[in-house]
Amino acid sequence: MNHPSLLPIFIHIHNRRCLVVGGGRVAARKLRTLARAGANITLVAPQLDTVLARSVDALAVTHISREFEDSDVSDYALVVAATDSLTINERIAGLAKGKGIPVNVANQPELGTFIFPSVIDREPVTIAVSTGGSSPALARWLRGHLETIIPDRFGELARLIACYRETVKRKYPTVSQRMRFWERALHGRLSEFLFHNQPRKAAEILDQHLQLGLDETPVGEVYLVGAGPGDPDLLTFRALRLIQQADIVLYDRLVSRSILDLVPRGTELIYVGKARSDHSVPQDKINQTLVEYARQGRRVVRLKGGDPFIFGRGGEEIDGLAMHDVPFQVVPGITAASGCAAYAGIPLTHRDYAQSCIFVTGHTRNNTLDLNWEALVQPRQTIVVYMGLTGLDILCRELTARGVPGQTPAALVERGTTPEQRVIAATLADLATLVDKAQVQAPTLVIIGHVVKLKDRLEWFEPRQADVSPP
Ligand SMILES: C[S@@+](CC[C@H](N)C(=O)[O-])C[C@H]1O[C@@H](n2cnc3c(N)ncnc32)[C@H](O)[C@@H]1O
Repeated sequence: MNHPSLLPIFIHIHNRRCLVVGGGRVAARKLRTLARAGANITLVAPQLDTVLARSVDALAVTHISREFEDSDVSDYALVVAATDSLTINERIAGLAKGKGIPVNVANQPELGTFIFPSVIDREPVTIAVSTGGSSPALARWLRGHLETIIPDRFGELARLIACYRETVKRKYPTVSQRMRFWERALHGRLSEFLFHNQPRKAAEILDQHLQLGLDETPVGEVYLVGAGPGDPDLLTFRALRLIQQADIVLYDRLVSRSILDLVPRGTELIYVGKARSDHSVPQDKINQTLVEYARQGRRVVRLKGGDPFIFGRGGEEIDGLAMHDVPFQVVPGITAASGCAAYAGIPLTHRDYAQSCIFVTGHTRNNTLDLNWEALVQPRQTIVVYMGLTGLDILCRELTARGVPGQTPAALVERGTTPEQRVIAATLADLATLVDKAQVQAPTLVIIGHVVKLKDRLEWFEPRQADVSPP
């Protein structure tokens, strides 16, 4: 059946008689698919594979324990030929076709009249994928991809809509009014609440929508989303979904170009980043802007590098939203420490070298670093320093002065997780000099501790430029 013109249909087979012939794993798979749709199944096979035998018991299948006979193909709604024998499968297909019964032949779709598509099951929502029988592997691959982007609880949405259908119909008698109502409701916070198992809140939102006139704008929502350290593959599914559904995206300097490329064309993109010396958009202004956009009924994504709650001022931004009663959600991201460490081959903890790990900011004020040095210099601890480039020599000096040996391994990861990543691995004593010579570009992260020596053995990521090591 390698032609493109297949008719995609879903058919009712609840309580209808279906025949499966075959005793192996393929038959077991088909049997389970039919059983999920409520079919009344008869199975013909002289012997059953253990998996199939279990399904037969569990699914109340009628099992006829013998070889297939032509008279088995009688008044069935569907027939599935799943034996190991090409000849028998061909015979079953011929008999079924002769009686006008739709027939599927496992592994030889061209012999049958229908195929089983690859299915994404979000009961009661079903998505079927077919490649017209040309490549089951491709269909499976595509299914896998769709599985990752369609939330697990998508079916809940269909169930909730079904509960409200009559009420909405009463309020909005015409189809076009109902379309407008549902489009607006689905575009809002309703789905996110359901996907996060908060059905009561979702129902409240739907009730609020019913109170509003079709031309009134419900208040929007702000999503504070962690974009991770750079590699777009490190975004969470949720972050990606929200980015793709947003009306407007406000982003930071640290959000990489390849992540911004995932924002659909037509979505408003606003840069609110800050360079170290150039506070282009003051924090208060960002907080105010978020409130204003949400009040216009927009779905606002505030995209921040790494994780919004780690040295990201995410707390301040949502504080402003909370004060103004603007609904918000926070989506964690992979913080630079996790991303850079993983891509540099430096585990942040390791049973032999470090039992704790501390994250600090190396931001300097008046050329000094205000850090809790006692907490930093603990033995068997990895120190991760964010924003530590400018004050790197001060940091290394202060640590040495407080007893950390100059020979302690230390590394600086430049533009971690991106194709431009470079790792400068040295010791506490010579890291600052080496970094100075290497002319690194922000952002950079410093990792200090014995775990750094594992890099040579554990590095796996191949960026475009080579790492730097002492001469
Ligand atoms: C203002 S902090 C924000 C941290 C962010 N919220 C997080 O969780 O990663 C910025 C600092 O994070 C570090 N950083 C962020 N992305 C990085 C990357 N791809 N490579 C190296 N360091 C990075 C740098 O130290 C940079 O100065």
